[in-house]
Amino acid sequence: MKNRFVTIIIVAALAVSALAIIHQAHTQSTSLQPTGKAVGVMTGAVGATNNQDSFAIVTEIPSGYRDWKLISVSHEAGKLNDIRATLGNDIAIKAYREGTLPFPEGSIIARLAWDYVPSDENNKLFGVEQSFVAGLPKNGVQFMVKDSKKYAATGGWGYGQFNDGKPVDLAMLQSCFLCHQKMLARDRVFTRYSP
Ligand code: HEC
Repeated sequence: MKNRFVTIIIVAALAVSALAIIHQAHTQSTSLQPTGKAVGVMTGAVGATNNQDSFAIVTEIPSGYRDWKLISVSHEAGKLNDIRATLGNDIAIKAYREGTLPFPEGSIIARLAWDYVPSDENNKLFGVEQSFVAGLPKNGVQFMVKDSKKYAATGGWGYGQFNDGKPVDLAMLQSCFLCHQKMLARDRVFTRYSP
């Protein structure tokens, strides 16, 4: 009788700890999901593997970016199908021109993009189908802001994208750092300066 009582106590204790473990695992996995409400939140965990896997977001459009100097232009085909310009604020442009790496504090790089469309009016003049121009804005405006303290978790760069002036959701912003991180040789910046 006593033995049976002890067995019941042990089984009950095991069941309670199993429940506690399941609950903990559940809360951990759900807390790692992007909430979609994170606009305004500066940092958060992307994965549980190590502390480097965090991200930092630019929550406001840097003022005056449309007047910044040109770093280069490019065309993305495929699904993106855009033509884009990469601009830098004065600090970033100076660093590019002097070949300074890593980029100094306060550097900001902007990526603008527009629909890549044939120009009928230009083609008429040329007499052949050869002219492509920028159509309406497309694929948002993206920013990288260098602030080593604020964005320490993502290698000193904060990432932001704004579609029609509104910040994109957190899930999308998590991808920025993970891909840009692959270009460590140039301080996580892909675009080269076009003289
Ligand atoms: C799959 C990889 C990848 C992802 C994800 C990605 N980028 Fe990029 N990014 C690139 C490449 C490659 C370029 C240069 C080519 C171009 O201009 O399209 C670039 C260019 C840029 C530039 C211009 C500076 C530079 O590094 O050349 C900015 C700013 C930028 N990305 C911000 C972002 C933001 C913000 C996000 C997340 C919303 C993001 N990127 C997601 C690969 C990526």
